Amino acid sequence: MSGCDTRYGRDTQDGCGGRAGRKTTALVTGGGSGLGLALARHCAGLGHHVVIAGRDPDRLSQAVRDAQADDLELHALRCDVTDEAAVDRLFAELAETHPPLGLCVNNAGRNSSHRLVGVRQDESGAREVRPYPVSQWEETIKLCLTGVFLVGRRAAAAMVAHDQGGVIVNISSATSSGAYGQSAYAAAKAGVESLTRTWAVELGEYGIRVVAVAPGVLDGEALRRRCASSPRHQEYMSRLRRQTPLGRWCTEQDVAAAVALAADNPSITGTVLEVHAGGIPRRVYE
Ligand SMILES: NC(=O)c1ccc[n+]([C@@H]2O[C@H](COP(=O)([O-])OP(=O)(O)OC[C@H]3O[C@@H](n4cnc5c(N)ncnc54)[C@H](OP(=O)(O)O)[C@@H]3O)[C@@H](O)[C@H]2O)c1
Repeated sequence: MSGCDTRYGRDTQDGCGGRAGRKTTALVTGGGSGLGLALARHCAGLGHHVVIAGRDPDRLSQAVRDAQADDLELHALRCDVTDEAAVDRLFAELAETHPPLGLCVNNAGRNSSHRLVGVRQDESGAREVRPYPVSQWEETIKLCLTGVFLVGRRAAAAMVAHDQGGVIVNISSATSSGAYGQSAYAAAKAGVESLTRTWAVELGEYGIRVVAVAPGVLDGEALRRRCASSPRHQEYMSRLRRQTPLGRWCTEQDVAAAVALAADNPSITGTVLEVHAGGIPRRVYE
């Protein structure tokens, strides 16, 4: 995402990702807050035409207003990425009223934790065993995997239709190789990485590159929110951080730099860029 990058497409281009005189659109799902907003603002700062998509109109409007106050232009469209019809409407509106799609960042997603079987023991030694709720499994898979599929297929269709190529960046997670309490989330992110490799093979002939970026724990809004609501979680996360090889979390800027590399480098496709300070231990003991 170097200023007005010229390499999203397959042809000679001269500005902001489009053919001569044509700017392209960078779409960021879940762009109204957290990492998505940081990525959207980064793209806007580099001169891209940026559209953020999310479910909450107030959150989106606030993001647009805050950006304006910082001289950044964001455009907002409402969309629940788990709703097929809503995703179809999003892409219809993008095609009608925005420059051709050059970059799609599949960012919308949310972590959810539950052990396969949660076990609690009372003083008498009796065990209460709670299996992973199917509703939680389905909700996480729907958002973190099906949502990426629904948006990715429309993004690819739009890029094939305008015939200028493009880049799809799927946000994965360091948990994709397995992590304690992360059955659904880790499986969904492993699925996202698999989709990335499959789509890269299928879409290369149309000049479309597909890359996954897998952050470790982000020192961002979501972490601050969870730690503020639970001192126990804060303590656990501190222990976890101390066990990463670099002893630090990654920042939104670190991830933005990886997305920029994915977007700019014409030889990167079908791969996962890991931005995780050396990896997160799969389990941390008390
Ligand atoms: N935070 C981390 O430590 C971390 C680490 C590795 C990977 N990641 C990945 O990074 C991405 C962003 O995470 P984050 O920490 O920024 O999460 P976040 O703070 O919870 O933000 C998620 C964003 O996605 C939007 N969203 C949620 N459900 C949606 C839906 N169905 N349709 C459209 N938008 C939806 C939310 O807005 P609305 O609710 O208004 O729709 C929100 O703007 C996710 O894919 C996550 O898995 C995060």
